Amino acid sequence: MISKYSNQKNEIKENEIKEAAEEIKNGKLVLFPTETVYGIGANALNADAVKSIFVAKGRAQDNPLIVHVSSIEMLKKIVKEIGDIEKKLIETFWPGPLTIIFKRNEILPNVVTANLDTVAVRMPNNIIAKKLIEYSELPIAAPSANISGRPSGTKVEDIIEELDGKVSYILDGGFVDIGLESTVVKIEGENINILRPGKITKEQLEQISKQVKIDKNVLGKVEKNEVVASPGMKYKHYAPKTECMMVYSENQNKMINKINEIVKQQKAENKKVLILCRNQNFDKYISNLKWNIGKTLEDMAKNIFTLLRKADKENIDLIIIEGVENKGIGLAITNRLIRSCAYNYIVL
Ligand code: TXA
Ligand code: MG
Repeated sequence: MISKYSNQKNEIKENEIKEAAEEIKNGKLVLFPTETVYGIGANALNADAVKSIFVAKGRAQDNPLIVHVSSIEMLKKIVKEIGDIEKKLIETFWPGPLTIIFKRNEILPNVVTANLDTVAVRMPNNIIAKKLIEYSELPIAAPSANISGRPSGTKVEDIIEELDGKVSYILDGGFVDIGLESTVVKIEGENINILRPGKITKEQLEQISKQVKIDKNVLGKVEKNEVVASPGMKYKHYAPKTECMMVYSENQNKMINKINEIVKQQKAENKKVLILCRNQNFDKYISNLKWNIGKTLEDMAKNIFTLLRKADKENIDLIIIEGVENKGIGLAITNRLIRSCAYNYIVL
């Protein structure tokens, strides 16, 4: 199958979004942009269509999908109840990069939720995503657009090789805004539990409830056979093919010295090492092989996945990435980096 490709980058073509919506209605897959990362979408109410997402991604059957909606009416059709905290979260953060776990309705096929009695839902804030859902008049189940285990897709050029031919329609919306997947939360009593950190930060969630907890697996490593709050925590994630390592210290000089030391050692063994560093530290590294990941944490969030994918094309032996502090969106960056590095990290 050849995917129909629409290049929307600079202008949104209504008729193309409508064509893609027809594909969704017909049980086909559509690659589409959201404000966080690209998604591979299908009609969430059609079990066969949803199954084909798992096949396209090579995704484990027990890892449930996020359902994307464009209205509260649509949300009400797929969930049992909307609690008070959930209501406040919706009013404050939707449409936007926040996924909320609800008790699910029977209307959803089991394959979407991997047989759980809950469903993860979000209302995206990207105009193409919104219209795709509106025009198809269906909730859209969509995981991040990448082969399972690989870094998520933040622009079509990065993922076209691995997904072309696996979807019926590609809506190209250019480079996404945020670059990391949504924050996933589950409410228990007065507690907001963060299962996956993202652009909506702990500090922002604390405006809704004082009791915001970060699940221990956000920064910890899942043990074999451990029961986890979110199935996605168990799997290899966001990983480039190249070996990768994160180094962090609150003291920037300490971090830079450590990275320079590792680079020296690796070079002595004839290894090709790439440093991914912030703009402000760029000149402090001795190596010539270094890429700027941007100035702010927001820049870094946006650039990580695309740079890891780029590094995979360069025959590099080791990628060393600067870590960041776990505040604000820094928590989400750290969560992705330690997984990209398969827990190979040093904190000094
Ligand atoms: O930003 C995003 O959230 C992107 C865009 C496309 O919307 N989507 C995304 O989907 O990142 P995915 O499938 O890559 O990640 C969904 C995460 C997984 O870790 C999954 O285990 C978790 O959400 N999840 C889904 N349903 C759940 C549920 N009922 N309970 C707990 N965790 C759930
Ligand atoms: Mg994913």
